[in-house]
Amino acid sequence: MPIIAPSLLASNFLRLEDEAAMLNTSEAEWFHLDVMDGRFVPNISFGLPIIQQLRKTSTKVFDVHLMIEEPEKYAEAFKHAGADVLTVHYEACTHLHRNIQQIKSLGMKAGVALNPHTSVGLLENVLQDVDMVLIMSVNPGFGGQHFIPQTLEKVRLLKQIITQKGLQTLIEIDGGVTLDNASALVQAGANVLVAGSTVFNSANPLGTIAALKAS
Ligand code: DX5
Ligand code: ZN
Repeated sequence: MPIIAPSLLASNFLRLEDEAAMLNTSEAEWFHLDVMDGRFVPNISFGLPIIQQLRKTSTKVFDVHLMIEEPEKYAEAFKHAGADVLTVHYEACTHLHRNIQQIKSLGMKAGVALNPHTSVGLLENVLQDVDMVLIMSVNPGFGGQHFIPQTLEKVRLLKQIITQKGLQTLIEIDGGVTLDNASALVQAGANVLVAGSTVFNSANPLGTIAALKAS
């Protein structure tokens, strides 16, 4: 069964405490938190203070997705704010190996995210050090976009590489995940499904999370 990671980005920002409380009662194990800097991506979302406040009320694993430049400057601050998994973008890291070691030495799980155009093969020399690979199935920056179909093949290929190497690396898929494509993604090898609008725009978010979980 996949891990479900609802994305805060699609929630009602006027009622964050209620949204977190709803997730606490759900079958979702993770809470996906999208941090955007307006430089790496053409949008600005939220940052440390929001995560710090949510940490007081949420019981879920904090899965922080940094869509920012120079993530090494902020890794420690995100640890203090409550991040459990910290994901940086391949495209934002000149010294990716060093950034991964930094995240792990701070006591967090280290994730690397790939934009839709970035090949999974580029991770070959660093995969053994990474706890999770996040495959972007939309261009990062916005919720509610359509799933890019060729991403499915990337998940399959990455799964093959992970299996061949005998690794336990998790595959997370992020962007445009719906009740219609979730099963195919899990079959292709995805372990973690991020879902923003599918969960929070649903009339019954708890039921939708349960249905994603059953994919
Ligand atoms: C996009 C973010 C996603 C976003 C997904 O840049 O990384 O996590 O919240 O939203 P949906 O599920 O609506 O595509
Ligand atoms: Zn994300």
